[in-house]
Amino acid sequence: MTTDRPPLRESPAWRALERHRDEAAGLHLRELFARDPERGERLTAEAAGIFLDYSKQRVTGETIRLLLELASERGVDERLEAMFAGAHVNVTEDRPALHSALRLPRGTTLVVDGQDVVTDVHEVLDRMAAFCEAVRSGAWVGATGRQIRTVVNIGIGGSHLGPAMAHEALRAYVDGPAVRFVSNVDPTDLTESIRDLDPAETLFVVCSKTFRTEETMANAHAARGWLVAALGGDDVVARHVVAVSTNLEAVTAFGIDPSHTFGFWDWVGGRYSLSSAIGLSTMLAVGPERFHELLAGLHAVDAHTRTAPPARNLPVLMGLIAAWNGLLGARSAAVLPYDHYLRLFPAYLQQLAMESNGKSVTLTGAPVDADTSPVLWGEQGTNGQHSFFQLLHQGTVVVPCDLIAFLQPLNPIGRQHDLLVANLIAQGEALAFGRTPEEVRAAGVPEALVPHRAFPGNRPTSTLVLERLTPYSLGTLVALYEHAVVVQGAIWDVNSFDQWGVELGKELAQRIAPELLAEAEPAFDHDASTNALIRRYRAARQGTAA
Ligand code: F6P
Repeated sequence: MTTDRPPLRESPAWRALERHRDEAAGLHLRELFARDPERGERLTAEAAGIFLDYSKQRVTGETIRLLLELASERGVDERLEAMFAGAHVNVTEDRPALHSALRLPRGTTLVVDGQDVVTDVHEVLDRMAAFCEAVRSGAWVGATGRQIRTVVNIGIGGSHLGPAMAHEALRAYVDGPAVRFVSNVDPTDLTESIRDLDPAETLFVVCSKTFRTEETMANAHAARGWLVAALGGDDVVARHVVAVSTNLEAVTAFGIDPSHTFGFWDWVGGRYSLSSAIGLSTMLAVGPERFHELLAGLHAVDAHTRTAPPARNLPVLMGLIAAWNGLLGARSAAVLPYDHYLRLFPAYLQQLAMESNGKSVTLTGAPVDADTSPVLWGEQGTNGQHSFFQLLHQGTVVVPCDLIAFLQPLNPIGRQHDLLVANLIAQGEALAFGRTPEEVRAAGVPEALVPHRAFPGNRPTSTLVLERLTPYSLGTLVALYEHAVVVQGAIWDVNSFDQWGVELGKELAQRIAPELLAEAEPAFDHDASTNALIRRYRAARQGTAA
């Protein structure tokens, strides 16, 4: 893979886009629709059951033409292909980013570094399925012979957000044990999660790619302590704790039987790991068949991304539009699913987007000469409408939004789903077209209130419409955003697969933890503020202890 892309400022397409932005800056979506009434039908694309309407983005035909040129100049296709083929696209860690191999159908082949990874993937999937069937049927029992009723997933970051999001999204399909999630090192998380559980009927799934993450290890040790205190005996870990990890050695050292460990590979990044064994808790909840439907949805979008021409390629279009919105000055973007089951989707996407592209240097370590990942956030509709939508409509910053809708409700009650979808459509319309002061006056609003009641509009949205929330359609959505993130990374030429930015804080916490606890006051050599905070905590702790 080429790692010597010229800086963005030297890219003719980028420079053309900057000029185009300056020309197009004055254009309002009202004007764009008035000039081109067909754009609502034309600026759309559809694949794998996802309909994308990007006509309410601040783009013209010329913008799209230039963005596609940019994609070609920046080697977006090439980078995607390198990723799918197993090249070492994660250059700082010298490894592939091959999450797409996790959903390749059985019988296909992908040889990476001399090894057919598809065989390995399906071997683990089969072991997961056998284990899940045993737990779900009651054939797998706890140390006292009782059936497992609750599964507690212990993990953080990618070992939490994906499984927790998927479990929530697929709640309507859950027919296995209840699943809970513990991630935070704050002891409240574990305490509250297990408070009402019976250890004899509880199974912990410890998920950690590295099996070294402090938060996860602390919670796993505490969970083991809770089990042993209640159930005693040697059998307790064997019957109540399983692991998902790439680090078999550390799992064994923890005391978990290797036959109760579900592996994956260093070429699966944490935030891209939902379709690996990290999805074990999802499989336990919905069963292997539905988990395979989820994988099929992911694979459908992988195949689309790899083969569709850029102009009709959903992740490419979404990635390019995100980069364009950055050029227009947006520093933040919101994802607003109008589906209660997707309420954890924004949190999941935060890690996916910001850990991937929250970078300031290119693959070769040169400074990136553009703003990279926007701050991503979001909330389910309609709840967000009654909190931060005020800012979306009338604030001084413009936040591009993705609105996600499903045509069929999973829990129909009267006309509530119609109302939900009406709200989504209305928000897109209101954000794009606003309400002019003239329109406000014409409605008889007193002059003093006109500025308060007017809406500027011209606030870009993309609308994603899917038929129904199913394991398959969830898979398509996940892969869509995964690849859109990689497309943006390719434009900015950053490594979307490493996360060195999380290391410094971890390192300092490891140094500070013993300083908080040491009997004698250690010789601090932090800055004055950090030293004072440590002293304050030590004083409180010693006071408590006294
Ligand atoms: O904090 C960063 C991170 O490394 C994430 O990228 C990862 O998803 C998370 O920690 C958890 O890591 P692990 O699965 O190794 O415990």
